[in-house]
Amino acid sequence: MRTPVIAGNWKMFKTVAEATALVREMRRELDEIKGVEKVLCPPFTTLSAVADLVQKTGIKVGAQDMYWEDQGAFTGEVSPLMVKELCQYVIIGHSERRQYFGETDERVNRKVKAALKHGLIPIICVGENLAQNEAGQTEVFVSSQVRAALRDLTVEQVRGLVIAYEPIWAIGTGKPATGAGANRVIGLVVRGTVSDLFGEDTAQTVRIQYGGSVSPDNTSEFMNQPEIDGALVGGASLVGAKFLAIVRQAALSKGTHS
Ligand code: PGA
Repeated sequence: MRTPVIAGNWKMFKTVAEATALVREMRRELDEIKGVEKVLCPPFTTLSAVADLVQKTGIKVGAQDMYWEDQGAFTGEVSPLMVKELCQYVIIGHSERRQYFGETDERVNRKVKAALKHGLIPIICVGENLAQNEAGQTEVFVSSQVRAALRDLTVEQVRGLVIAYEPIWAIGTGKPATGAGANRVIGLVVRGTVSDLFGEDTAQTVRIQYGGSVSPDNTSEFMNQPEIDGALVGGASLVGAKFLAIVRQAALSKGTHS
């Protein structure tokens, strides 16, 4: 049984004051929802405040990126040791970082290794853009991203990680994939590639999320799919009532609500 994981990617939203208000608003109810792992991924500047607020709850915290070196003269970067003090998770290779900040497959792989070395759980993002999708290149492209991200990892390392399949055309557009379509890519391409590389047993332990315009209205469509183990939520995670509704739906759909 894979425990579903719902992560809220706040992107570049929320000051410390705003983040504090949002966490206070949803903390108690979020903590009460069982059977689903809940992760908040605020910007670096609010990680410390959010981590403090969720102490003694079951809510986890994730960073949105990090560098791979432990320390050094790397102005503007944040190291795994710094992230580790505050977080259990770290998002790596989000399409916005690949698109706007020069993130490459090779850098993603270095960051994944650094995260695992320090006991952080990486949420590795993969997904094709609209042109690739329309040209029928989804399988080849997504598979190559998975292969690159997992290069040189051990079976033990792969078993614990999370992958998010986020088709770029669905992110922030209000046009999500269909449940069946996402399930197909996640099962055949993402899990299939992990299986090719590390064996089917290992592939069955990896949690694979869907991301891209997830909302309270479509959460159950995704969560009812057998290959989909959670969601990476952007816009809807900024609104307490919406994020709570999504986590509740996920708990109900996966039948682990208690
Ligand atoms: P969205 O973003 O839910 O706003 O589409 C998802 C993401 O980028 O992780």
